[in-house]
Amino acid sequence: MLDLKSSPRAATVAGFLLSSGVATPFATGSANAFHGAGCGTSSARVVAVVAEKVGTGEEYLQKRIAIIGAGPSGMAQLRAFESAKRAGREIPEIVCFEKQGDWGGQWNYDWRTGIDQYGEPVHSSMYRNLWSNGPKEALEFAEYTFDEHFGKPISSYPPREVLWEYINGRVEKTGVRDYVRFSTAVRWVQYNESTGTFFVTVEDLVNKVTETSEFDHVIVGSGHFSVPNVPHFEGIETFPGSLRHAHDFRGAESLAGTDVLLIGASYSAEDIGVQAYKMGARSVTFSYRTQPMGLDWPEGMEELPLIDRFEGSVAHFSNGVSRRFDAVVLCTGYLHHYPFLPTELALDSPNCLYPDTLYRGVVSEKNNKLFYLGAQDQWFTFNMFDAQAWFVRDVILGEVSLPDAAAQRDSIDSWLARQDALSTTREQIQFQADYIRDLIGATDYPMFDLDTVVEIFVQWTQDKQANVLTYRDGRHRSVITGTMAARHHTPWLRELDDCSERYLSKPERSELSTMVDGPHTEPVTMPVRVTRPIASEQAKAI
Ligand SMILES: Cc1cc2nc3c(=O)[nH]c(=O)nc-3n(C[C@H](O)[C@H](O)[C@H](O)COP(=O)(O)OP(=O)(O)OC[C@H]3O[C@@H](n4cnc5c(N)ncnc54)[C@H](O)[C@@H]3O)c2cc1C
Ligand SMILES: NC(=O)c1ccc[n+]([C@@H]2O[C@H](COP(=O)([O-])OP(=O)(O)OC[C@H]3O[C@@H](n4cnc5c(N)ncnc54)[C@H](OP(=O)(O)O)[C@@H]3O)[C@@H](O)[C@H]2O)c1
Repeated sequence: MLDLKSSPRAATVAGFLLSSGVATPFATGSANAFHGAGCGTSSARVVAVVAEKVGTGEEYLQKRIAIIGAGPSGMAQLRAFESAKRAGREIPEIVCFEKQGDWGGQWNYDWRTGIDQYGEPVHSSMYRNLWSNGPKEALEFAEYTFDEHFGKPISSYPPREVLWEYINGRVEKTGVRDYVRFSTAVRWVQYNESTGTFFVTVEDLVNKVTETSEFDHVIVGSGHFSVPNVPHFEGIETFPGSLRHAHDFRGAESLAGTDVLLIGASYSAEDIGVQAYKMGARSVTFSYRTQPMGLDWPEGMEELPLIDRFEGSVAHFSNGVSRRFDAVVLCTGYLHHYPFLPTELALDSPNCLYPDTLYRGVVSEKNNKLFYLGAQDQWFTFNMFDAQAWFVRDVILGEVSLPDAAAQRDSIDSWLARQDALSTTREQIQFQADYIRDLIGATDYPMFDLDTVVEIFVQWTQDKQANVLTYRDGRHRSVITGTMAARHHTPWLRELDDCSERYLSKPERSELSTMVDGPHTEPVTMPVRVTRPIASEQAKAI
């Protein structure tokens, strides 16, 4: 039987649970019960493990860390701790709770929309045919390269499945899967002032067991592109066509031959618009609130200002134009939403490069034992999550010390002031590069040539400006390995098979090209449908 008297900490867990009415007295356990036990640990087993360990008292010498989410951010955190362990450093006991059945976060594609098989909100906003919208050379891990994973150069803009394989490959090799409790949703995190620890209540979705455990630190890696921002427009409630948010968009095939309206002027609007074009939409209209994307759209794609109102299937725009549509996709972004955290600990921020209240972009100013990964708007992604995860690890291991509250506030304020002054795209990218450099400088994560990555990003924005339909055929050089990306065997606009097997294969020639161009042997060249050069003001803005 669990001897609560022998461990004040265990007694606190039980007391907390009983007073908060969670589960049955011992249908709960310490984090120790999760570690290495694999998924689906039964309550009885949890009790047994706790009882055995409490007897020795040894487990409390070790810190316990909860990671919420095994998307790219959570996976980076696992890798960061694992890398310290391999270097001979003591690492805490780690449990990563992931509500999906596999890791990868957004990259773990789900055909479902709305609600999943367990009644949980579907997490991923990715669509079947999604290809990276930024060059892979800008997101490459500094300590696990594309060359190392694929053994050969690949193109700069791989499809979703290939990027999932890359992030999966890195962590699969190190065996950190054992730290993850899959199909386990975090329901509530409560900080206890008297113990200085967090009580984390989770639900095992498969076995339908609710458990609460105590942790010294909580790292939130639950992402912030999952809960849609859904504004209202007058009359939209009677729009008779197909109407959804980008979060629920899974493929553009059904848009062939239709007139499509995309509300929003950022990446979702741009990419879903281009997908719709690729799949044969009759027309694609974008509606912007603040400013248009300003790309050189091909014929059939156009940007208009915001919608005033809908009347049936007709949208009236604020410039007096009215148009009939078959389908509307709200590409209006996402909300930071942390339903498992009390308001005072939940990050409350717009989608921006430096969310307020996070020291060095990761440490919660409100409680320095709580961390957020990937909470920023993202130019850089995977390598930024690494920089953050390495930094958080070293704070937890006591190798990076935190300054006092006033100094944390000064640091946040100076980054916020710099963020407010950003005006061009280049400045925004440089800002995030400098942020990453600052974090890496404090850890042993390998520094990489961030300034050259900024140039890669700038080249990408120029390529996109020049031709939004062909920028994914562009190639960039890795700053880590020096490898020049391969030319993909089929231009993106013609590639209708997005699977990894096809992508990594070496077809003699594209079957589709054969269909389109006939059985000749000349190399396939893209029909350039848009040839206008970048407008000089736009070029300057970059
Ligand atoms: C449509 C779309 C396309 C994108 N395309 C690109 C791209 O081409 N290139 C690029 O670099 N980036 C892209 N991104 C950015 C993307 O945000 C990052 O690549 C990355 O996925 C962020 O990782 P993350 O771990 O922070 O969050 P996520 O990937 O969102 O992962 C969060 C994880 O937390 C889990 N979780 C959430 N709540 C709970 C809970 N209560 N309990 C347990 N687990 C929970 C989720 O199931 C998920 O696995 C795209 C994003 C979107 C939305
Ligand atoms: N292929 C890909 O790789 C791909 C595809 C899609 C998305 N993504 C990723 O997904 C993430 C999210 O991108 P996102 O475009 O969904 O979100 P986002 O970048 O946050 O942009 C949200 C857009 O919605 C607009 N908006 C918000 N509220 C509005 C309202 N009430 N009325 C009209 N417009 C409104 C915003 O306009 P304002 O400018 O006026 O605020 C903005 O243009 C990004 O990281 C992106 O890289 C990647």
